[in-house]
Amino acid sequence: MKLSEERKDQFLGELIELLKIPSVSADPEYAEDVRNTASYIAEKLEQAGADNVEIMETNGFPIVFGEKIIDSSLPTVLVYGHYDVQPPDPIELWNSPPFEPVLKNTPLHPEGAIFARGACDDKGQMYMHIKAFELMMENNTLPCNVKFMLEGEEEVGSENLGPFCEKYKDKLACDVVLVSDTSIIANDVPSITTGLRGLAYVEVELTGPNRDLHSGVYGGAVANPVNILSKLIGQLHNDKNEITIPGFYEDVELISIEEREEMNKAPFNLESYKSDLEIDEIRGEEGYTTLERTSIRPTLDVNGMWGGYIGEGAKTVLPSKAFAKISMRLVPNQTPEKIIELFEQYLKQLAPESVKIEVKPHHGGLPSVTPTDTVEYLAASKAMEEAFGKKPIPQRSGGSIPIVALFEEVLNVKTVLMGFGLDSDAIHSPNEHFGLFNFFKGIETIPMFFKHYAQLKS
Ligand code: BES
Ligand code: MN
Ligand code: MN
Repeated sequence: MKLSEERKDQFLGELIELLKIPSVSADPEYAEDVRNTASYIAEKLEQAGADNVEIMETNGFPIVFGEKIIDSSLPTVLVYGHYDVQPPDPIELWNSPPFEPVLKNTPLHPEGAIFARGACDDKGQMYMHIKAFELMMENNTLPCNVKFMLEGEEEVGSENLGPFCEKYKDKLACDVVLVSDTSIIANDVPSITTGLRGLAYVEVELTGPNRDLHSGVYGGAVANPVNILSKLIGQLHNDKNEITIPGFYEDVELISIEEREEMNKAPFNLESYKSDLEIDEIRGEEGYTTLERTSIRPTLDVNGMWGGYIGEGAKTVLPSKAFAKISMRLVPNQTPEKIIELFEQYLKQLAPESVKIEVKPHHGGLPSVTPTDTVEYLAASKAMEEAFGKKPIPQRSGGSIPIVALFEEVLNVKTVLMGFGLDSDAIHSPNEHFGLFNFFKGIETIPMFFKHYAQLKS
């Protein structure tokens, strides 16, 4: 199905309207905008031809549901996506305001890309599904049933989605979940995501003296929590860049040499990787390639760290407290509960008695892997091959979508991760963008997935 220029303009115009609404789920200031976004997509879903469109309340932001059941004896695809976005900070690093979408060309997107928070993650990718559905309804080519479940809390951990799926198990009953919230290797190297890492996220608070002190009067005699926290964090990796927490690797899935060799056949250009990031050298766990380090190996990273005086100029102070937010990406068989426990034990064991230490767990989730020998994978593979003219490469991703493990557990179905972004699209960063090629290619590919899936299932 080729899109006419007129249709492309219409779809793009609607996406621009969607991107203008700042649906930042993490910041209560935007709560009304998040809700307005739910209304906007519910309206679009209905206009596209969905039945029973509902904005369903949860304890947090609502879930937009809609469906088209053409024949209950046919298979059902559940489309999942998220309409919430990450905070735009640091706002001063954006070349144009994050909620005023603009079109620009980039070296990887010579046809143009749309710049806005959420362009790729995930409003642009989620919206492809609504438009693909609209086209299938128009042309009378929807070959099976479809349900939509679009949530507004993915970027804050999807805490209400688990209970929602439990509660509405029957309403959500389906044969497969289809998600576009991941990337392809390149616009001429299509790929399908076959794995996601899990996530354990903690906040660490170190307390030294009961108040900020004069760093001259007390300095040298009283523990400085910022100094100590830096040292503790430094001890969490050894010289081989392995994580030193005892037991951390205990449950890590062993991958055979053959499978690793297969993985490393995927195209990867180290020079362009480095030049894109303007780094002179990469760094990671010894004995593994970059592709492996970002897919089959677990990690530990400080996401933010603060304490003491961080304002303008120099204020001499010995801080009372130091904080860090730390993420650990997990691979199959590791669980956030166990990893957080090991982390806390080790940090407390390492810390000197001159400070108190508190570890607060945040949201997390399990890793997931999807097999490639299933009907749903084959359907996605055929769809991408038809759309890109090349067979897609299966590849595990480093990111996390914790609810994928939950779909398997609660709804008892597999998920197809057929994303269309590029890793370089700056999701979660300033100047996030989504290629127009990618947006339209996604809209063309999705109906092909439906076609092949319905064929293969019958
Ligand atoms: N869409 C991303 C995850 C992703 C990005 C997977 C690129 C594969 C490739 C998702 O919105 C996300 O950001 N997930 C969070 C975890 C969540 C619990 C906040 C993440 O991976 O940090
Ligand atoms: Mn996402
Ligand atoms: Mn995200």
